[in-house]
Amino acid sequence: MTLAPLQSGRQARGRAFGKVILTGEHAVVHGHAALAAPLKSAWVDATVDTIDGDLLVETTQSSIETHGVAAVARAALNAFGREGKGLRVYIESNIPPRAGLGSSAATALATVRAVAAACSERLSEKQLLELADVGEQIAHGRASGVDTAASQADGVIHFLVGTPPVPVPLASPFWLIVGDSGIPRNTRQAVRAVTEQPESRRLEAFSQIDRATAQMEASLQSGQLSRAGQALDLAHCALEYLGLNTPPLERMRRAARNAGALGAKLTGAGLGGCIIALAASENEALRIQESLLETGAANTFVERLAP
Ligand code: MEV
Repeated sequence: MTLAPLQSGRQARGRAFGKVILTGEHAVVHGHAALAAPLKSAWVDATVDTIDGDLLVETTQSSIETHGVAAVARAALNAFGREGKGLRVYIESNIPPRAGLGSSAATALATVRAVAAACSERLSEKQLLELADVGEQIAHGRASGVDTAASQADGVIHFLVGTPPVPVPLASPFWLIVGDSGIPRNTRQAVRAVTEQPESRRLEAFSQIDRATAQMEASLQSGQLSRAGQALDLAHCALEYLGLNTPPLERMRRAARNAGALGAKLTGAGLGGCIIALAASENEALRIQESLLETGAANTFVERLAP
């Protein structure tokens, strides 16, 4: 789609990053802890300019849900007492949507920032998160808020619904390699599918996820990266037990492990989307990335996380 250029000189901008969940997806919706980090090589830019008329949302990515963006922009305008202000919101992104990399959270955050700038409003952290949450509830059905918190973080965070995210201090750098199966998943459906599982099965899986999260956090703090890798594998088995794994995800996971990853798991809602793998050096990370591409990954990202 070709878009007319925005009018120069009257634009306001906002940027936000994608995210990866290391451990704790789904469990976090039910009050358990999760570990997550920003994916700074994956971003969304929102540009807003003032127009005559109503609210207009345009994007280069046809799969971005423009009604969610419009709902977030409207909520922001209402919060600033500017209901009915004519705005054109233009979204650009390199985050594959519906891949579990926080595209909806990053889109909402970038939109709120750009609308605030267009209205010359200063946003508190609390206001930013509350407004972005309007989009997250539409995208996830029941959103924990982990995606918005991770997108905003400087590094790995320990996240629990209702409490401020706590940064996890790292003892040594490590690399996360993301492989996108290219098969879009629906977070709403996956969250519902887990919620509808028999309680005993869910609790069993969540208790294994809690063990994986605790092992991961301790290992990152002490620099025991092979134990951190084992924690990813442990978390993956619990997500598989909940029915969230798929053959393409499993193929990528095995390819990553065969290429030397210390551990690998599906990340995000599952039933499509992405895997993450852990490596202790850049060379290993690049080798794993290559093997994911050979296995048919539609997109890959390599992220270095360091103390
Ligand atoms: C999605 O990135 C993570 C889920 O746990 C949903 C949520 O926390 O809102 C599946």
